[in-house]
Amino acid sequence: MKKTIDDLQLNGKKVLIRVDFNVPIKNGKITSLKRIISSLPTIKKVINEGGKAIVFSHLGRIKEEADKEKKSLEIVAIELSKQLNQEVIFINETRGKKLEKAIDKMKNGQILLFENTRFEDLNDKAESKNNPELGKYWASLGDVFINDAFGTAHRAHASNVGIASNIKESAMGYLLEKEVSALSKVLDKPERPFVAIIGGAKISDKIGVVSSLLEKADKVIIGGGMAYTFNKALGFNIGNSLVEEDKIDLAKEYLEKYKDKIVLPVDHATGKSFEDQERIVNKNNPLQILDGTMGLDIDKYSIELFKKELENAKTVLWNGPMGVTEFSNFKYGTEEVAKAIYKLSDAYSVIGGGDSVAAVESLGFEQAFSHVSTGGGASIEFLEGKELPGIKSIQDK
Ligand code: 3PG
Repeated sequence: MKKTIDDLQLNGKKVLIRVDFNVPIKNGKITSLKRIISSLPTIKKVINEGGKAIVFSHLGRIKEEADKEKKSLEIVAIELSKQLNQEVIFINETRGKKLEKAIDKMKNGQILLFENTRFEDLNDKAESKNNPELGKYWASLGDVFINDAFGTAHRAHASNVGIASNIKESAMGYLLEKEVSALSKVLDKPERPFVAIIGGAKISDKIGVVSSLLEKADKVIIGGGMAYTFNKALGFNIGNSLVEEDKIDLAKEYLEKYKDKIVLPVDHATGKSFEDQERIVNKNNPLQILDGTMGLDIDKYSIELFKKELENAKTVLWNGPMGVTEFSNFKYGTEEVAKAIYKLSDAYSVIGGGDSVAAVESLGFEQAFSHVSTGGGASIEFLEGKELPGIKSIQDK
């Protein structure tokens, strides 16, 4: 059992808190506050207990000096301050005298956010390669370490694993704890029937999750781009749809082994090219995609079928969109799946992955899910059954 924030003495301590503030930003505006809001319980706990909250995160990927301008965490500091209704001291450095002095001056109950940890990647990828000197340095800035960055838990970087390995005490924050408990509940003791819905463009990105869920769930609904490879394996015409030829044999193997579990789309909305346009549906034979078109979404018969499969579910796990949700004419399937889960009143429902979560957020359905994960890659690796380094590195009780 890992230590949690409730096991720590926080009063008067310099508390290093790794959060995942890798938030989407468009035209200088944060477009989803989910990761910021989800980090508040841990930060509030630390300041309410009289700790000094030293908060840090990465934002995007930094490959060259020019990337820094758009990837400063200052915009997040402003939002965090708004959310907490309290000053957040922002330090535009990741190390050095200015940062150290500001930490020394902190009073109990204050919050400081320092600059994007990946700015250190300009220094021979010190953050991403978990440079031992950097992890040690950051660890030296605090007394205890709380990791609350579930979204980054699949990375072994200096700001999570590096610090945890160099500090006397480390623990999970409330968000990390909540994510682990929700995803473990689904994987380890799901109430049955357990229905999983997996979407997204490629089988190769999700092989691990698909095979893990085929073993654990009672039904696995497959939608999105990867469904076309399965449909091709079944001998259907898929036109110009996305296909991974080298995964057809694997798809055949799954279809054979798990024939009673796999549920595939039975109709498709297509387009003539990969862009937003009118939906084309083959009315005469919905299972076959017309030559010269490509599948971009599922259509109404698939929705009906998926709804039926979901009807009696007691546990639902959803990861990945059913179609190209960036195109307004092809987000129908993803939204309908969100609505179907929304209507299940007594199922334990967990959703992860950027596009499916965004669809649920835009519909305002978040509250209807038992748990909405803040992790993209992290939730996928967790569901594959992998031990995540960011979690593994935290001390046991
Ligand atoms: C995410 O958004 O998936 C995490 O913040 C990790 O980001 P990364 O893929 O750049 O490591």
